[in-house]
Amino acid sequence: MSPKTLQILCSPLERAPLELANGASAAGEAGQFLVNREHGLKYPIRDGIPVFVEPHEITGINSRFRGIYDSWAPFYDLLSRVGLYILGVSEVKLRREFVGSLGIRAGDRVLATSIGTGSDLPFLPRHCDYYGLDLSAGMLRICLKKMRKLGASAELFLGQAEHLPFLDESFDVVYQMGGINFFSDQAKAIHEMVRVARRGSKIVIMDETEKVARRLEHIPGIKAWFRHQHRPIVPPTRLIPHGMEQVAYRELYDGQAWYVSFRKPR
Ligand SMILES: C[S@@+](CC[C@H](N)C(=O)[O-])C[C@H]1O[C@@H](n2cnc3c(N)ncnc32)[C@H](O)[C@@H]1O
Repeated sequence: MSPKTLQILCSPLERAPLELANGASAAGEAGQFLVNREHGLKYPIRDGIPVFVEPHEITGINSRFRGIYDSWAPFYDLLSRVGLYILGVSEVKLRREFVGSLGIRAGDRVLATSIGTGSDLPFLPRHCDYYGLDLSAGMLRICLKKMRKLGASAELFLGQAEHLPFLDESFDVVYQMGGINFFSDQAKAIHEMVRVARRGSKIVIMDETEKVARRLEHIPGIKAWFRHQHRPIVPPTRLIPHGMEQVAYRELYDGQAWYVSFRKPR
């Protein structure tokens, strides 16, 4: 982990600073940890990924989706390509357009709050520092493999978007692509995106609309994402904190995706 990264990390709940240490956990796990001795905090680093939440600490619908994404991670890329094909949307076009809309500039520090298998990575501009968090260790494992294959680099973190392990005002661009429709607490996740964004930064959120959920809920594999959906999909425009600037809402791809963007005021 680079010193630059360590400088912006903190514990996700107390926001306490962290340092690297070798050691062992109470459960006997040995290796490298991120620690804060004053607060008695210790987060393991597994396969190079700092782990800020363990499965038993995840509650609500996040727990269900962690399980779904962990099980389906090896097939996620194929399933999402098939799903998009059924919807008549080219994944390459969608990713190019989405990444293009982020307004990333050389030297930016960019955070993806649910990086998944890293399907955006081939489309992101070079000469930036990328950070990706996700709730699913399975998805992050595939992302790591993809990064090695592509020669792409990003720092990965296992955690919840509702409790980001980063200090305030750390990023130039923050984005959330997919997944937020079914977060346990969308308002908290959006609040966190704003907290870790620098002043003037762009924040972008996109996910599918209810129309897509109804079309894909019968397709094997994909249906797991929508079965027992606990609430209809409502784009979270009302959850954008007061005072944000350039707030824009659009529906894309024939009403199949919603897209929200705004800027944190300077
Ligand atoms: C539909 S996938 C999108 C992945 C990736 N952004 C993409 O465009 O392919 C949704 C992702 O959100 C993650 N996720 C779900 N709930 C989350 C949460 N509360 N915090 C962080 N990640 C979460 C899942 O593990 C999964 O990787």
